[in-house]
Amino acid sequence: MFADAHRRLDRALASVCERLATPALVIDLQAVRHNIAAVAARAPGRWRPHIKTVKQARILEELFAANVCTSKCATLPELELLVATAARTGHRPDIVFAYPLYKQAFRGLAGFLGDPQVDLQVLADAPKHLAALDHWTAALIDAGELPREFCLRVALDVDLGMHRTGTPPCGWHTGLRALELRHTQIVGLHGYDGHLHWEDRFEAHQGYDALCELARALPQNLRGSALELCTSGTHSYVHALSHKGLNEGPWTHSISPGTVVLSDRRSHRAATDLGLRQAAFVASRVISTDGHARLTLDAGSKGIAPDCPPPTCTILGWPNLRPGGPSEEHLPVTVGSQPAPGFGELVWLVPEHVCTTVNLYRHAVVIDGERYVGLSEIAAAGHPVWSNPSTA
Ligand SMILES: Cc1ncc(COP(=O)(O)O)c(C=O)c1O
Repeated sequence: MFADAHRRLDRALASVCERLATPALVIDLQAVRHNIAAVAARAPGRWRPHIKTVKQARILEELFAANVCTSKCATLPELELLVATAARTGHRPDIVFAYPLYKQAFRGLAGFLGDPQVDLQVLADAPKHLAALDHWTAALIDAGELPREFCLRVALDVDLGMHRTGTPPCGWHTGLRALELRHTQIVGLHGYDGHLHWEDRFEAHQGYDALCELARALPQNLRGSALELCTSGTHSYVHALSHKGLNEGPWTHSISPGTVVLSDRRSHRAATDLGLRQAAFVASRVISTDGHARLTLDAGSKGIAPDCPPPTCTILGWPNLRPGGPSEEHLPVTVGSQPAPGFGELVWLVPEHVCTTVNLYRHAVVIDGERYVGLSEIAAAGHPVWSNPSTA
């Protein structure tokens, strides 16, 4: 999959290599475009990418240019970036804020909720949270921050076995019975099954069966006229696309992989299925060597895949090098046989997990095939101090 990739990267960055400080995140736009086209072709009109993977306007522009205007986000900076990029490029974004909102965070979204150029859904974590969202919406309407006729669009977060957020289908069935909503409509079900893998088709389909059953049983007075069932990331989308109920119900269905835009080591099954190209790399240099069995790179846990056990990456073009356990700034590597790169030499790494790698950088070095084209700000990296953008 990575044959000769290091030589192409060497050529693409030849003009800037001498001044490149490492570790550096490098993104290949040509590969990004290829990956976006591959996923869009596999799930036409059904892809709602999670943009926590990319967190930068330059790649959002590529998604919009490919007419992928549906998305998911999890943080306020991601939402701000989506809305600003859509406005600048003349697109209307359709966004699911896929993270449970507490009261202060919800109030911080008022400006986006009331924006007629933005379609925004929020998640309800549990029946009580749904009632609270309705109540907080009423308060924003009373305060004049949302128009009188405003109706909050909510997707129910359904716990399909991941046990991270949401409520299991049975909890929604009973919890919705007694509920009355004044300013809120259920417009979707969100069943993210991130605990499942490529082999877990049976478990995945059991979860989707339960999701479809819940969709059929939703009380008419609580739901909107159209319903979207949104499931699955990079490791299980293939099961959702083959599920009869999701495909044929009186609803629309979307999948929400985000990693596929850039690809990484741990998404190799999806990469093979979709024919993805690796679009994100970390440039790293040798900063220590014993001259024979060990060398150390400058991409420790603050440079690449901080959430992964070793090996956190593959070293392109050097099959005889085995990355070991990183410390913050150091990545010791075992040299299996000679030759090995010398002190100061540049090597190219493919991250085990690309989403957490991107989030470590303020800028990415952008190439387009074999051409250096500039920098891209990772504007949505990290977390803001204030929950309301207007108080920033
Ligand atoms: C709620 C939600 N949706 C979608 C995704 C995207 O999945 P992936 O990173 O596997 O592409 C994630 C990933 O963490 C997620 O938490």
